[in-house]
Amino acid sequence: MCGIFGCTSSRLSVSTVIYESLKRLEYRGYDSVGLATTHNGSIYLKKDQGRIREVEENLHLSFLPGRCGIGHTRWATHGAPSKENAHPVTDCNGMLALVHNGVIENYLELKDQLQKLGHRMRSRTDSEVIAHLIEMHVKQGLPLDEAVRRTLLLLKGSYAIAAIFASDEDTIICARMESPLVIGLSPNFVCCSSDIPALPKEVEKIIVVENGEIVVIRPHTIIIKSLETGQELPLKVTLREEMTGDADIGGFTHYMLKEIHEQPQVALNVIKAPAKFVTQLAEKLVKAERVYLIGCGTSYHACIFGSHVLRFLAKIDSFPLIASEFDYCNASLDAKTVVLALSQSGETMDVLSALKRLQDLGIEVLALTNVMGSSITRLASAYLGLYAGPEIGVAATKTFTAQLLMLARVAVEASNIKGENVDYAKRIEEFLRQSPSAIKSSISSNVRRAQELSVKMSLKDHAFFLARGVNVATALEGALKLKEVSYVHAEGYPAGESKHGPIALVEEDYPCVFICPQDETYDKVIGNIMEMKARGAFIVSCIEEGDKEVKEISDFSFVLPSVEVKMLTPVLHVLPLQLLAYYTAVARGFDPDKPRNLAKSVTVP
Ligand code: F6R
Repeated sequence: MCGIFGCTSSRLSVSTVIYESLKRLEYRGYDSVGLATTHNGSIYLKKDQGRIREVEENLHLSFLPGRCGIGHTRWATHGAPSKENAHPVTDCNGMLALVHNGVIENYLELKDQLQKLGHRMRSRTDSEVIAHLIEMHVKQGLPLDEAVRRTLLLLKGSYAIAAIFASDEDTIICARMESPLVIGLSPNFVCCSSDIPALPKEVEKIIVVENGEIVVIRPHTIIIKSLETGQELPLKVTLREEMTGDADIGGFTHYMLKEIHEQPQVALNVIKAPAKFVTQLAEKLVKAERVYLIGCGTSYHACIFGSHVLRFLAKIDSFPLIASEFDYCNASLDAKTVVLALSQSGETMDVLSALKRLQDLGIEVLALTNVMGSSITRLASAYLGLYAGPEIGVAATKTFTAQLLMLARVAVEASNIKGENVDYAKRIEEFLRQSPSAIKSSISSNVRRAQELSVKMSLKDHAFFLARGVNVATALEGALKLKEVSYVHAEGYPAGESKHGPIALVEEDYPCVFICPQDETYDKVIGNIMEMKARGAFIVSCIEEGDKEVKEISDFSFVLPSVEVKMLTPVLHVLPLQLLAYYTAVARGFDPDKPRNLAKSVTVP
């Protein structure tokens, strides 16, 4: 939710560097964009509502003069998407410009106080109060970094900010409280960014800014201070991590398609990931009396899968919970409870808030995330990476597969430690070894089929995705993918529940997608297919090779390699559903990489 970037250099004009980095940050929000620089004692600023390329075409953001600047790509929280509400925001006299990612909870109170002091607000954002508070402190005669620090002490909520000043042309002051922020160092410039993949290629070293730190960046110096005390802190510089993938689109039309096709490689990365971290997590899980797996959206669907696998394989009492509901569900929490949090980004506020409360209660928190150095890795007592490489498409695809495979690895390890279901665990290991090629053939053999079905699906308003058992996770994920990128309304349901209400919606040619592997759910799912068929539904099925029975009663089938360990069928059965969602979005003329109203990392509660 919103991406911020800043760059200062002793030799380069920075607006192109900022513009290019904002393009890489656009997945964080894309309803408005803006850029500001300092030059000859003034602030130059351009911003507007719209996608970054459109705004560049109209305003030429990348032509702003100056060697120091900041930029922002927005996902609106306070104030509708508009030119006024776009960032950077400024103080009364345009002497400073500021970008912000996060939410200032007490902004109304602060705004009121500032207005009484005569400050003129131009936007409806919560962020603008920060600029005016800094202005107020500067007018009191404080040095810039102290003025920013005093301002931040007045704020309640979350922020990553970066500010530039007409009076101090080569300086950026940035700070972090909850929202992510990193500093990048290169021979030609120093920059700050909401995330690592957005950093320019030249950046060789990184400093991860911690909560409660304020950073003063100049072309050749970086000073970090504690927000609370104002005291200087040591710099913790690390080499830029080798990424397991890259953020280039390659020859693909969209990142989503590229990321779907990357899944065989992701599977290979997961099975090659160091065993010691998997063991570390498994050891903690087997000691627990109960495990809650918490996450949001796609990560929550992976939690459903993970709980099934941990329960079945390792006999660990595991339950999936939606992170934003965690507070209200009165889950039993004691010293024997462990919470495993799943988050691709590692920055989802709903997950982080739950984890903080759990930490306060002394509950052990573990994490599975794709972003090393993300907030979740700092909250967890142990964490495991997904090794999926940067995921740029807003809809999660390859990271869902990585979550399933990594959870399967953890469950296998847990079952080995406990001596439970050891034979089945061995067969899962065998499946994991084969998974890169099974995933590859599942994708390649279903691309054309998904394109075919997308033509019909693109003309529909609604669809059901139904399954039983572990594949309820697949059904929910298939429906989420379709609705979020193509805007065809889709509901995922346990198939047995469909007759308790949802079936009322079914009429002639209503699409019902069944995930139907030949496991213990098979006969009952056939029963559910027949119920829908009897009401005229258009039956789509995801079936295993050689399944003639369901093929015959279906109007359309996706065929997947037959899997011996049925518990792992979601890994393959979700793939045609990802393709279907992608091609349906394209057939309807939408950009699947940037669905409306969404952002890749949801850093607001
Ligand atoms: C769906 C999607 C979202 C995320 C959710 C959680 O395609 O991407 O539903 O899964 O916002 O995000 P993370 O996993 O980063 O916590």
